[in-house]
Amino acid sequence: MYTVPQLTDFSAEALERTVAELFAALESEAAKVTSDSDFKMFRDRWIARKNGILTQVNDVWLKGAPKDAKRDVGARVNALKVKVEEVIASAESRAAAGTSSARVAGERVDVTLPGIHRPIGMEHPVMRTMETIVNVFKAMGYSVGEGPEVETDYYNFESLNFPPNHPARDTQDTIFISGQEQKRQRDRLLLRTHTSPVQIRTMEKHKPPVRIVIPGKVHRNDAADASHSPMFHQVEGLAVDKDITFSDLKGTLDHAMKALFGSSVKTRFYPSFFPFTEPSADVQISCFKCGGTGRLSANEPCRLCKSSGWIELLGCGMVDPNVFEFVKHNGYDPKEITGFAFGMGVERLAMALYDIDDIQLFYAGDVRFLEQFA
Ligand code: PHE
Repeated sequence: MYTVPQLTDFSAEALERTVAELFAALESEAAKVTSDSDFKMFRDRWIARKNGILTQVNDVWLKGAPKDAKRDVGARVNALKVKVEEVIASAESRAAAGTSSARVAGERVDVTLPGIHRPIGMEHPVMRTMETIVNVFKAMGYSVGEGPEVETDYYNFESLNFPPNHPARDTQDTIFISGQEQKRQRDRLLLRTHTSPVQIRTMEKHKPPVRIVIPGKVHRNDAADASHSPMFHQVEGLAVDKDITFSDLKGTLDHAMKALFGSSVKTRFYPSFFPFTEPSADVQISCFKCGGTGRLSANEPCRLCKSSGWIELLGCGMVDPNVFEFVKHNGYDPKEITGFAFGMGVERLAMALYDIDDIQLFYAGDVRFLEQFA
């Protein structure tokens, strides 16, 4: 092991030789460094402030040098420091690489192994269906809007022609926010039971004509079962202009259903009731699974349409003049304009589209179900 020699001969040749011996020792010790811990020992041995070789060189060679040799010795010691640092730096990078290259050297690369499969996310089938519906209407020139899920009684009911205490309110099993008793009824908060409140919100903001679809989440106080969920999604539609007729409503929805379910489906408008539309209708489409026959074969009934040949998909109607009264000040004079509205349940549509028999599957978060839509 190299030790720093005492210097007695300060001639150039003697210094040359002494420095060369030191370098030789440095290089051979550096060559043995293969790991991080080797490196630390090597580094400390050479440059530790306290008693490292460089410190010793400084003390023994430089401080002990006679006056007339100091200059020469000083220059050599400085050059030597630079060299030592260089060798240490390269030993350090070799030590770092050495650990990993040693590991790789022991391994073999098998290029035939299958790659790492990282599953990527996908749109939820409910979101995808909502998007599909919205796109059908966008293509007809409709714009897209949204509204709040926590709504006031005014927007969810009153302005949609559900008078206070009217029994029609009971058809929308409402979840109310608690602690609102001190407020006027119209200001009380609830979770919206449908997307229809956004009809009024839209007409308050935009003068006619409007053509808008409104996708969103709604809540009802329903127990969860195969066809009910306390939370589900709707897409609302509203078109208001001069001279909009029931024929426009029929043509628009007939086109939309064909775009969604295939050009061979027929639509049927069945009388219904909603407080905010008059007249109102439920829209049914001919069952695309059994072709409207109600059976898949002579002795196999069609589950999808429950053998009826028709699937009920949405509610619609002509906007009730009483609704326009609430936004009359913004250009909605019921004597001047007419309009139609419709609302469809997204889950119900998705269930028909993908032949799913239990709405809960959408919310269970079971990847085996969800993966099928990837
Ligand atoms: N809002 C109604 C519902 O949730 C659906 C509907 C919308 C009916 C627009 C007519 C017009 O049942």
